[in-house]
Amino acid sequence: MTSRASIFLSRTVPPAGRALLEPEFSIREWTGDGFITREALLQGVVGANALIVHPPDRVDKLVLDAAGSQLKVISTMSVGLEHIDIAECRRRGISVGYTPGVLTETTAELTLALLLATSRRIKEGFKAVEKGMVGWQNGHWLCGKQINGCTVGIVGLGRIGLAVAKRLQPFGVAKFLYSGHSEKPGGTEIGATFVSFDELLRNSDFVVACCSMNEENKGLFNKDAFSKMKSDAIFINSSRGVLVNQEDLYDALKSGQIMAAGLDVTSPEPLPVDHQLKTLDNCVIFPHLGSATTDTRNVMAVTAAKNAIAGFKGQTLPSPVPL
Ligand code: DGY
Repeated sequence: MTSRASIFLSRTVPPAGRALLEPEFSIREWTGDGFITREALLQGVVGANALIVHPPDRVDKLVLDAAGSQLKVISTMSVGLEHIDIAECRRRGISVGYTPGVLTETTAELTLALLLATSRRIKEGFKAVEKGMVGWQNGHWLCGKQINGCTVGIVGLGRIGLAVAKRLQPFGVAKFLYSGHSEKPGGTEIGATFVSFDELLRNSDFVVACCSMNEENKGLFNKDAFSKMKSDAIFINSSRGVLVNQEDLYDALKSGQIMAAGLDVTSPEPLPVDHQLKTLDNCVIFPHLGSATTDTRNVMAVTAAKNAIAGFKGQTLPSPVPL
């Protein structure tokens, strides 16, 4: 009798994806609270033919060695790839799949929630309700800033950046700016102007980080960047926490150099309970909810499962990481 192929899941995979995996693999998975520990990952992968992982589970040489040479495919349930040593996977002939596209709309919606929560001072509003206060008690109390008539600067006009801009158009944004390596067709589509990063910082009422993370842009939003922003600028990040120097962000928010920040991502995740950013009323932090809707997570799970199955069978992945 031949033994079944095995897959290791670094966390439970939503039902729609799991249903596809069950007939194909014998499934082993991490079911502990929170992210899988490094030790559990190194043990869990041993002997697996396929892996389904998620940031921040680091899949490096050590994990690949621990898994063994029968490992055929790594499928990440994410668009982000920073946790996988892609070059090493290529060298070993291991296929890598990911889930771009399917989480664009959900992440863009969540980004809008950050814009609204920060610009309309929702965090302070919640606290005020708990204390039994109401917004009309004086004319300026809890007055925020409106999106209508503003300039929105998008750093990285990729899939998600463009989806954010399209959702903001009906709010009456006066002008869209974007920065990045090169002009994008999407820029023309939404009438946005391609500018330098500095120009974007100086002229935007909302600075929205939508770029993917790489070695070059770690700490891009630092003291220097915040010092160039308008004093009532709002900084939004739904991409990756490491794009931001969080000490510098704290100083910029505390001193009133910028008005507010809305973050769906931090470094680390989760932030320590007593982290200084959490003490600020003008800093709204979400626990990396970008793709967190039931529908999207199921679609991501199906894509990840199909990638794992195809990779194990030596077929072309439906959603391969581009060469
Ligand atoms: C992604 O897909 O990269 C999301 O940020 C979830 O990690």
